[in-house]
Amino acid sequence: MVNPLLSRLGEDVMGFLNEIQIKYPNAISLASGRPDERYFDIRDFASCFNLYVDTVAREEGKEREAVLNNLGQYNRTKGIINQLLVKYLKNDEELDVRPEDVIVTVGTQEAMILAVTTLCDREKDVIIVEDPTYVGLPHFAIIAGYQVAAVGVNKDGICLQSLEEKITYFKELGKQVKAVYVIPDYQNPTGNSMPDENRHKLLDLSAKHNFYILEDNAYGDYNYQGKRSLPLKALDKDRRVIYMRSFSKTLYPSLRLGLIVADQQVQYQGAEVALSELITKTKGYTTVNTPSISQAVMGGLLIKHHCSLSAVNTDKVAAIRNKRDLLLAALDACLSAAQFPGAKDISWNIPEGGFFITINTPFKVDKNDVILCAERYGVIFTPMSFFYLNGGGDNDIRLAFSYLSPDDIVPAIERLTSFFKYKLNIN
Ligand SMILES: Cc1ncc(COP(=O)(O)O)c(C=O)c1O
Repeated sequence: MVNPLLSRLGEDVMGFLNEIQIKYPNAISLASGRPDERYFDIRDFASCFNLYVDTVAREEGKEREAVLNNLGQYNRTKGIINQLLVKYLKNDEELDVRPEDVIVTVGTQEAMILAVTTLCDREKDVIIVEDPTYVGLPHFAIIAGYQVAAVGVNKDGICLQSLEEKITYFKELGKQVKAVYVIPDYQNPTGNSMPDENRHKLLDLSAKHNFYILEDNAYGDYNYQGKRSLPLKALDKDRRVIYMRSFSKTLYPSLRLGLIVADQQVQYQGAEVALSELITKTKGYTTVNTPSISQAVMGGLLIKHHCSLSAVNTDKVAAIRNKRDLLLAALDACLSAAQFPGAKDISWNIPEGGFFITINTPFKVDKNDVILCAERYGVIFTPMSFFYLNGGGDNDIRLAFSYLSPDDIVPAIERLTSFFKYKLNIN
């Protein structure tokens, strides 16, 4: 016997998309939301590592050898670059946090696991997620036996009215909504963002109904339009927000670095304790500590750039923005009313940042359409239904533009248009 809850996850949809890509290698992928490798900072890996080692040796009056040996050892569970990260959070995210409230994690995925397992009671608590959402958090929570419920997302992020109704519904059942997981900036999968007004309203709701907000910021750096909204955490006067920051899209995924900011006090065994200490305790039994070698590379990068990554990201943000613009132009050229007979029932959002666009169609799409489209038309997309918890999104498609080569964008949309014609019986 294995964990029976595994079967509740259904099919491995990401594995399915990878299989399709392998089977149809010439198909252009509008499915992959990976960051663009051309902008990985991996070439500077060794120089950043060495800069970190030399800086620590100088500041702490140690031999270089001793710093290296320390990096090879087990290390502080909370992390070794917390001071640098606190300065970065201040410079780039306008967050005022203390180093002891930061835990350096193995990507956001570990941050989510630590937050859920530290905060939630399997019997009494419910975790609410956006629907659709990035499945990393709900899928972990489901296989670990936590209760997960979903609330729809609209163009302004999580639907606040439905959220309040769901909280009331669970209260009547004697359950507590303990945490609400949101991706306010350029959400994966929809590309939608939460306006400032809704950020304040969500914070008010969390105070009213006493839940924590698990804020996932993976794409915030990729802002293409005007002034970027501040993270919920920067507006969080009542300390309701547990902030999770990925560096996979900002730097590169193999670094496996992320962080949690948890500056709350919680009740534990009859006393008030810092939530960050309890999360650290959980981490001690999860991954022990985040690899010090990765932290040293990140530390060197932060030292080199005066604890701000905005200069590091300028070119990569411009490149992905350019891809978004090319994709929007290609959609206009192929699927607008002037060009396409079925256009009146087809629409798409204009994401202000991030890696994804949603297309709404008058026809339903499922995994068989993905196979057919790859085989016959040479393009791969993701049905939005793959990201829903309890079904939905049958008429929506997620297009990812981050990983695509700019030269492939027009052919990809032309091929997608041929697939749309087939679905709509247009010759
Ligand atoms: C919204 C969101 N959160 C988290 C992650 C995973 O982040 P990490 O690589 O830091 O674990 C992803 C990856 O695609 C994502 O889209």
